[in-house]
Amino acid sequence: MRIAIAGGTGVVGRRAVQAARAQGHEVVVLSRSEGIDVLSGAGLEEHLEGVDVVVDALNTPSLSREKATEFFRTTSRHLLEAGARQGVAHHVVLSIVGIDGIDASYYAGKLAQERAVEASGVPHTIARAAQFHEFAEQMSARTSLGPLTIAPRLLARPVAAREVGEHLIRTAEAAPTGRAQDLIGPEEHTLADMIRRLSAHDGTSRRVLEARFPGAYGRGLASGALRGDPADALVGEMTFAQWLQEEHRAG
Ligand SMILES: NC(=O)c1ccc[n+]([C@@H]2O[C@H](COP(=O)([O-])OP(=O)(O)OC[C@H]3O[C@@H](n4cnc5c(N)ncnc54)[C@H](OP(=O)(O)O)[C@@H]3O)[C@@H](O)[C@H]2O)c1
Repeated sequence: MRIAIAGGTGVVGRRAVQAARAQGHEVVVLSRSEGIDVLSGAGLEEHLEGVDVVVDALNTPSLSREKATEFFRTTSRHLLEAGARQGVAHHVVLSIVGIDGIDASYYAGKLAQERAVEASGVPHTIARAAQFHEFAEQMSARTSLGPLTIAPRLLARPVAAREVGEHLIRTAEAAPTGRAQDLIGPEEHTLADMIRRLSAHDGTSRRVLEARFPGAYGRGLASGALRGDPADALVGEMTFAQWLQEEHRAG
């Protein structure tokens, strides 16, 4: 299969690229560092020539409801329209477990993205995953000031990005179903606990304060909804402790 992976240089996108190549697929990486800006859409269509499946693992760092919504709506529209013109048979988009009741901030953008894909008429699968183990690294980098990290109160069942990348490629190989089974991790953690363990593993003396973030966004993070339902989800194998030992690289 020829698979285009939008965001194929990102945390999960590069794992999807590895998983696709390991299965013998031909991969087209769509990212600005590869010279393709999906937000502008310029030149996108020619890169989708002969592509069977598009996997969308793009991301924006914005927590603004308006900016995140604009980013995810526009990038999805560009991928879907260019894909339809090139006869792409399946559009797979990565979204987040448990966001239905959190129509705020970044998650409003992800919900808008899901709705845009559903309304497109293009055969698709929305694949939702829980927070990645790597989310501890991503959030720690964003919410730290010197040795102090402020972690939002967040109850999670984190999963290794590698397992999410493999799940995306299995989803791409299958027929479009509209919605894949949720993928969550094997254990429950708070984000603060994950960042503390990451810091201890790296030997840094980071002080991590947990704070309930304000508004609907903070309420959603703290609600436990993002953990998903283990009775109804695929459950990844790699624990956070295993990930620290086997996948996380200090620094
Ligand atoms: N992080 C989590 O815990 C988590 C959990 C569940 C689901 N998700 C979802 O997974 C997706 C990927 O997240 P991530 O954390 O892996 O993202 P990430 O590491 O921030 O990577 C983002 C990717 O998007 C590309 N990109 C950004 N803007 C672009 C543009 N205008 N044109 C082309 N490429 C662009 C980046 O490459 P360039 O910078 O080179 O353009 C990069 O490859 C997101 O949709 C997120 O909602 C994340």
